[in-house]
Amino acid sequence: MKLNGIKITWLGHATFRVETPGGKTLLIDPWVMGNPKCPEKEKAIRTLDVMLITHGHGDHIGDAVELGKKHTPRVVGIPELCHWLQKKGVETAEMNKGGTQTLGDIKVTMVHADHSCGIQDGEQMVYAGEACGYVVEFDNGVKIYHAGDTNVFGDMTIIRELYAPDICMLPIGNHYTMSPREAAYACKLLEPKIVIPMHFGTFPVLTGTPKDLQRLVPDLEIREMKPGETIS
Ligand code: NI
Ligand code: MN
Repeated sequence: MKLNGIKITWLGHATFRVETPGGKTLLIDPWVMGNPKCPEKEKAIRTLDVMLITHGHGDHIGDAVELGKKHTPRVVGIPELCHWLQKKGVETAEMNKGGTQTLGDIKVTMVHADHSCGIQDGEQMVYAGEACGYVVEFDNGVKIYHAGDTNVFGDMTIIRELYAPDICMLPIGNHYTMSPREAAYACKLLEPKIVIPMHFGTFPVLTGTPKDLQRLVPDLEIREMKPGETIS
């Protein structure tokens, strides 16, 4: 399929930098500087217009405060998570599941994820609402779905019927999220054109691999990216 000006770069784990056809930079799950899979040359974020945060776990929100203060992007998250970010000095554009907001040249819809959501703040585990995923629609009509951390859930059917995402970033690592077995079922519900596997290999317990997933859905395009690689 054609991305028509969209550039998607995987920074490792669940973190993606996406450039829009209009030249805006979107960062999904800002775990960059502390992310062991992020290539050194990608750690210096130069420009940032929108930041989407799926939930409060450190491997997703890790550098949100620092990047949010430095670049003052539109920072999107669920209200309880945004409340914590605001207390840390980050301006936010909160929303909740089912809502869509236009941010520059993209439309962002927050959707469900089946996962937990807390923020470790020093010794405390702070309540941060619920985990979510995002559907992003670009002004060239391409739609991507970043599932965040999640198990498969039946309402992925609703995500397909309402939004029909072309490209799905799905966690496959097992242990904290879906394994390839559940992710293959998610593919059946979502019927994407391309799946980009994520959230695998970062830690020893994340044992699922893109090859395992491909074996279970032989007819689907599973696009295994390398950290730092860009598709366009
Ligand atoms: Ni998580
Ligand atoms: Mn995670």
